[in-house]
Amino acid sequence: MCGIVGYIGEQQAYPILIKGLHRLEYRGYDSAGVSLISDGGDLNVYKSKGKVSALEEECKNQDLSGTIGIAHTRWATHGEPNQVNAHPHYSESKSLALVHNGIIENYKSLRTQLEGYGMTFCSETDTEVLVQLIEYMMKDHNCDLFTGVQIALNYVVGAYAIAILEKEHPDQLVCARKGSPLVIGVSKRENGSTEYFLGSDATPIIEYTNQVVYLQDGEIAIMDRSGRLDIVDLKNSPQTPKLATLQLNLDQIEKGGFPHFMLKEIWEQPNALRTCIRGRVNPANKDVVLSGVLDHKDRFLNCRRIIICACGTSWHSALIGKYFIEEACQIPVEVEYASEFRYRNPVIFSDDVVIAVSQSGETADTLAAIELAKEKGAFLYGICNVIGSSIPRATDSGTYLHVGPEIGVASTKAFTGQVITLCILGLAIAKVRQTLSDEMYHMLVDELYKIPDKMQWTLENNKDIDKFAERFTYCKNFLYLGRGYNYPVALEGALKLKEISYIHAEGYPAAEMKHGPIALVDAEMPVVVIAPKRGMYEKIVSNIQEIKSRGGKIISVVTEGDTTVRGMSDYCFTIPDTRDCFVPMLAVIPLQLLSYYVAVTKGCNVDQPRNLAKSVTVE
Ligand code: G6P
Repeated sequence: MCGIVGYIGEQQAYPILIKGLHRLEYRGYDSAGVSLISDGGDLNVYKSKGKVSALEEECKNQDLSGTIGIAHTRWATHGEPNQVNAHPHYSESKSLALVHNGIIENYKSLRTQLEGYGMTFCSETDTEVLVQLIEYMMKDHNCDLFTGVQIALNYVVGAYAIAILEKEHPDQLVCARKGSPLVIGVSKRENGSTEYFLGSDATPIIEYTNQVVYLQDGEIAIMDRSGRLDIVDLKNSPQTPKLATLQLNLDQIEKGGFPHFMLKEIWEQPNALRTCIRGRVNPANKDVVLSGVLDHKDRFLNCRRIIICACGTSWHSALIGKYFIEEACQIPVEVEYASEFRYRNPVIFSDDVVIAVSQSGETADTLAAIELAKEKGAFLYGICNVIGSSIPRATDSGTYLHVGPEIGVASTKAFTGQVITLCILGLAIAKVRQTLSDEMYHMLVDELYKIPDKMQWTLENNKDIDKFAERFTYCKNFLYLGRGYNYPVALEGALKLKEISYIHAEGYPAAEMKHGPIALVDAEMPVVVIAPKRGMYEKIVSNIQEIKSRGGKIISVVTEGDTTVRGMSDYCFTIPDTRDCFVPMLAVIPLQLLSYYVAVTKGCNVDQPRNLAKSVTVE
């Protein structure tokens, strides 16, 4: 959601902060702001509605000096996106400036209390309450900022990552987190001095240093120019900062010649999946090795049930995972929207395995769902992309996707990475539980290994999608249909179109169409049908006939060499043949490209679609 950047060192802070905001803009983009303690000792705050470029415009002709600063890109929760509600927020005396990611749940009662003490507020945000509360505590306890933050946060209910500047102390930067990520980059300069960088994730930090400290929940840190980095928890117990090395490089977070991150990430999929399966899938002996399962063999051997919790696109990949794991491992698998699961008092057994699927590893609802499962004693397994994020740290075991950073808000390579990881997980569990014949096991592993090459083929052979996407730009509705493993692909195709082109789209199990959606079909309605020459091919051919006889336009995804569905279709995308269970990783590619080109033709901002955030760190 919101993005935080911070810097303290010997360099001018403003260029570092603005560059960092651009890197984090995918997290939030309805307003942005920056605060600097100038060389003259002023605590300046500049902010603006809109994107980071609008902030740069706002900053022209301002005093941008200073070697310490914080900055923020906002995704509004409390208060509309405007200049007043944008961060940083001053405290009443303007001695403090604070940026915040998260939600302060008890902000109304805190605000009423502070107003009772005579404090006044400029904005509608929960964030301003936080900075006022800190200032109040500093005065009330006659303490420094580090202590004041600690005292104040003990009164706060909710989630936060914060960074704070204090005018009177231009040599120190204070930050804290609970429930929202915050990374501290540590860099030693050639002259021996230390500089610190702050980021909601590592993307604004990586070009300066690969040495980082991931702040833990409930920790407060203070950094200063002498190289001090002290961390305490909310009870003032000192914590030892643990230095980690980032596994990220700059190329991975730049567009590399593509017009949008989304298109780059679509094309990256074959290589991303090769990296994902490397070391886990051995083509020579047709075997999979997943340490996350091997290290906890008994939990998988004795598990009664698997529950997969996820949100958004990750929920769609979870559904494909369910189909595969049930088929390969003969274990009942339930797929839950994390946001529903966490609040409905679900039955969770201590011999359940609960899997969290999340690209970011930070989705608030998914995190809360696994915390609930932990209380009930279930074994927790995380499938995440962002290394060191909260979900991998909260789970007992897990598997990273290793598909590289995903910057485009609409998820693409993380989706296919999640699907292949869930398939590998299913194969690893099947091996432990011996639920597949050797022949079937080796054949599935062998075919899975070929998927990245088949994805490459799919990309190369569907290059002309851009040519006809414009014909659909003015459509108001789309229907996506699939059966079996391809029903979740229909859901994902529809979600991609909605997210970035703002065209209403519904994904449906093809046979359910007769129970409602068929009423919508007319000559204006494009119907995308995933119709590989496998499994329920004949049945889907009948579904296509039903649509055609009502005048609907058919856009199909077919297997190479297919003539029947091709002949019935107005537009056709081709994928290579593969096992039913692996078709989703190929069939989704033309659907990603279709939504991309429709959105581009409509002039939509593909990488930063309106109202959406890449990582939903508040519920
Ligand atoms: C947001 C993103 C989606 C993503 C979902 C779940 O809605 O825009 O692309 O699928 O969150 O995120 P996660 O990081 O948990 O996979």
